[in-house]
Amino acid sequence: MNTRRITIRIAAALAIGWMAVPDPKAHAESAAPVCASCHEKQTSSLKSTAHGARLEKIKNIAFDKTCETCHGDGAAHVSAGDGKDIFNPGKATAGKASETCMTCHSADRNRMFWAGSAHSGKGESCVSCHKVHGGNETLLAKKTEMELCTTCHKEVKADLVKRSKHPLRDATSKSGAGKMTCSSCHNAHGSRSEKLIAAKSINDKCYECHTEKQAPMLWEHAPVKEDCLTCHSPHGSSNNKMLAIKVPRLCQSCHMQGRHQSGTLAKNSVYGTNRSCLNCHAMVHGSNHPSGTVLQR
Ligand code: HEC
Ligand code: HEC
Ligand code: HEC
Ligand code: HEC
Ligand code: HEC
Ligand code: HEC
Ligand code: HEC
Ligand code: HEC
Ligand code: HEC
Ligand code: HEC
Repeated sequence: MNTRRITIRIAAALAIGWMAVPDPKAHAESAAPVCASCHEKQTSSLKSTAHGARLEKIKNIAFDKTCETCHGDGAAHVSAGDGKDIFNPGKATAGKASETCMTCHSADRNRMFWAGSAHSGKGESCVSCHKVHGGNETLLAKKTEMELCTTCHKEVKADLVKRSKHPLRDATSKSGAGKMTCSSCHNAHGSRSEKLIAAKSINDKCYECHTEKQAPMLWEHAPVKEDCLTCHSPHGSSNNKMLAIKVPRLCQSCHMQGRHQSGTLAKNSVYGTNRSCLNCHAMVHGSNHPSGTVLQR
């Protein structure tokens, strides 16, 4: 940029700034237009977002005053005009950045368990995931949620290309063909349960979509009601049906003393081939058949 243009822009901005300075209220009211004279891009991009469009309705803060809600008093910065003396949450410590956002967002139901949660406790902040100027439609820092989360969680990304997996939205598909995202199960902002699960417990989360597994059974299979993850991986697995271990080894890990299923199985044994234990015990999640005592029907 040529120096003359900068000089003129700064002079113009200072003129507006000076006019406003004697009266603090008048200064505040002219803040956004003053800021816009040097930061057109950030101002116009903010306008179309929730912070530009809904702050007035919800918090009774006029657009002119928006910049200062996150950047603090800009008077000194406007006079200096050189990028100093202004608070930038994007460069602040995690604690300070989140504190800025939480001045308005601490009452949100979804943020109730933010303090001390996995992300806030490990030095992440609101701006680790959100971009206030120029983020996606939920102000996420990446185009899609999948892309955002898997930038840091590479091990989960690897699970999502395995043979059996949940139909999570494919980050590369423009139509967002999948049905689920990470937020179908997690609340990145914190939750009352382990692993940021957005439900009372892991099983309660699974039941939300797999309701039939919750129904009371005549013949229950103890580990099912206890924890789905005893047998399944939540994100993906190289085994069928997202099983953590292949059948029969999965079953044998608990059933070694039984009548027929213990020890190394002979080649072609009915206990080991095809669907193995499931050849006969098809109702692993429980049975409602009067004579389904051993989960066989
Ligand atoms: C809701 C909080 C919030 C509001 C309101 C806000 N900003 Fe920002 N601003 C941020 C955050 C956070 C960053 C760090 C980068 C980002 O998230 O986009 C930032 C960064 C900036 C930057 C540094 C350049 C950049 O894009 O990183 C400028 C300049 C800026 N804001 C100007 C403004 C102006 C002008 C306004 C008012 C029209 C404004 N901001 C309103 C939160 C806010
Ligand atoms: C006279 C021109 C001018 C005015 C008016 C102005 N700024 Fe800036 N601002 C700058 C310059 C120059 C920089 C440094 C280069 C850049 O980031 O664009 C800067 C940087 C910033 C940054 C980034 C600081 C950092 O450390 O990364 C923020 C945030 C910011 N301005 C906010 C504001 C806000 C809010 C207002 C209105 C209250 C405002 N600016 C008014 C010129 C101005
Ligand atoms: C001055 C109050 C205020 C501050 C400070 C503030 N926000 Fe907001 N934010 C709001 C309001 C109001 C909404 C709109 C809520 C609604 O529509 O229900 C909103 C909405 C959002 C949304 C949802 C956007 C959407 O389109 O649904 C995100 C994400 C968000 N804010 C992130 C942030 C982050 C990150 C910060 C800190 C850098 C921040 N906010 C600071 C008031 C604020
Ligand atoms: C680890 C990533 C991550 C962090 C950290 C994060 N967010 Fe979010 N945020 C998201 C995702 C993903 C969504 C979209 C969730 C959805 O679609 O339900 C979201 C949505 C939101 C929304 C709009 C929907 C809602 O839940 O009300 C607001 C407001 C918001 N975040 C504010 C914040 C604030 C404030 C902080 C800091 C205290 C923060 N976020 C920290 C990932 C994050
Ligand atoms: C079907 C529900 C579900 C979906 C969808 C889901 N998760 Fe999970 N996630 C879980 C459960 C349940 C756990 C707990 C696993 C455990 O305790 O062994 C978990 C654990 C995690 C962990 C902690 C891993 C560990 O071993 O401690 C991370 C990180 C994670 N998920 C990230 C993600 C990301 C990123 C996405 C989106 C790509 C995602 N999850 C989608 C259910 C889900
Ligand atoms: C900027 C990097 C970053 C992003 C982006 C991010 N995370 Fe994390 N996440 C972390 C860190 C750091 C931890 C703590 C890891 C640890 O304790 O080893 C963590 C932990 C987790 C855990 C485990 C919680 C526990 O109790 O062990 C889950 C689940 C998780 N993140 C889900 C998500 C989801 C869902 C998203 C996207 C909405 C996301 N993360 C985005 C950095 C990130
Ligand atoms: C938001 C809804 C939702 C939640 C929550 C959910 N699932 Fe799923 N699950 C699905 C959908 C959709 C499919 C795919 C069904 C299909 O392809 O017919 C699926 C498929 C499965 C499959 C079969 C995979 C295959 O390869 O056929 C298993 C196993 C499974 N889920 C276990 C779980 C477990 C364990 C949990 C809890 C950690 C859980 N689900 C939570 C929606 C969900
Ligand atoms: C004792 C191990 C075990 C436990 C615990 C378990 N499952 Fe399964 N699950 C299996 C096996 C084995 C299969 C494959 C069945 C088949 O191929 O016929 C399966 C298949 C599934 C399927 C896909 C086929 C179907 O029946 O719909 C879903 C969905 C599923 N399980 C959900 C769950 C949920 C939800 C829980 C927790 C409430 C759970 N499972 C607990 C072993 C288990
Ligand atoms: C985490 C341990 C665990 C795993 C893994 C497990 N089970 Fe079980 N299973 C149990 C428990 C505990 C019972 C209840 C035993 C009792 O009541 O004596 C049970 C009961 C049964 C019964 C009924 C036995 C009876 O006497 O009522 C059958 C059949 C059975 N399991 C088959 C399987 C098959 C097939 C698999 C593999 C898909 C499997 N189990 C995996 C723990 C497990
Ligand atoms: C060919 C059919 C068949 C196959 C294959 C099979 N079972 Fe069974 N299983 C039965 C029958 C029938 C009973 C009832 C036996 C009885 O009451 O004498 C039974 C009983 C059981 C019991 C109840 C406790 C006991 O020892 O009586 C368990 C546990 C069990 N099977 C686990 C397994 C496991 C694990 C596998 C795979 C390694 C397996 N079964 C494969 C037919 C089968």
